[in-house]
Amino acid sequence: MNDFKNKVIVITGGNSGMGKAIAEKFNQQQAKLVIFGRRQTTLNEAKQTLRDALVVQGDIKKMADIERLFKETKRAFGKIDVLIANAGIAARRAIQDVDEAFFDDIVDTNYKGIFFTVQRSLPYLKDGAAIILISSIASHWILPSHSVYSSAKAAVTTLARAFSADLIARNIRVNSISPGFIDTPIFDSIKKIDANYMRKRKKKIPIGCFGQSSDIAELAFFLASPKASYIVGADITIDGGVSEISMSEF
Ligand SMILES: NC(=O)c1ccc[n+]([C@@H]2O[C@H](COP(=O)([O-])OP(=O)(O)OC[C@H]3O[C@@H](n4cnc5c(N)ncnc54)[C@H](OP(=O)(O)O)[C@@H]3O)[C@@H](O)[C@H]2O)c1
Repeated sequence: MNDFKNKVIVITGGNSGMGKAIAEKFNQQQAKLVIFGRRQTTLNEAKQTLRDALVVQGDIKKMADIERLFKETKRAFGKIDVLIANAGIAARRAIQDVDEAFFDDIVDTNYKGIFFTVQRSLPYLKDGAAIILISSIASHWILPSHSVYSSAKAAVTTLARAFSADLIARNIRVNSISPGFIDTPIFDSIKKIDANYMRKRKKKIPIGCFGQSSDIAELAFFLASPKASYIVGADITIDGGVSEISMSEF
């Protein structure tokens, strides 16, 4: 049975990494897709490869761009069945080196961006819609130099619960996903600095490899589906054991 044929799925950051894999998964189900991101080249690629897609270029940090995303979605496809708030950036910096510009960039993208993506979507969401927020294991498993990123992602997992409390009266379910180390372009800059980064990091992952974007897509698809109708305000970790098992002796 196809639960998503002609359903309207909005994915922020659907032009790269796990957002792109989520888009591909729903595309297989003949959903109508709306992809939001900054880079026109990857948005154009999405437009060409997806069956029935609207692409909207914009910056999640700009309120006017978020509002335009939902207005254009309504005009093209009508009301929204599934919202995947995935757009985000990763960066680390030791506490003493954090300046206001670094702080604002991470928090405005990863926390404020998600808050207002959901808030501004409300008039355009169907009752009974599903919302999935992409958080991170960094929200509850902390590495050095991640104070800003980790706290912004902790806010995201909290938002899944807080939004659920506000929206359950409309039967809108909000859940978050906390991925571990997933092999996406988010690691491109670190690979340029340290060619051995992926090999070294892999050794610390209990299951022995990075996750794939398709792993996240399968989980997002399940959470959006009627099979997950009793899952509300949850945060699901998907990390190959990183946050639960230590691979080194103390
Ligand atoms: N990969 C991992 O190991 C991992 C682990 C935990 C959590 N996450 C989270 O997963 C999400 C997706 O990351 P990814 O790994 O798939 O990385 P990615 O390939 O770099 O994708 C990030 C996406 O977010 C979009 N984006 C970033 N800033 C934006 C902005 N200001 N406005 C609009 N769109 C913006 C990007 O689009 P443009 O490039 O066009 O701006 C891109 O499509 C992020 O929230 C990230 O924090 C990733």
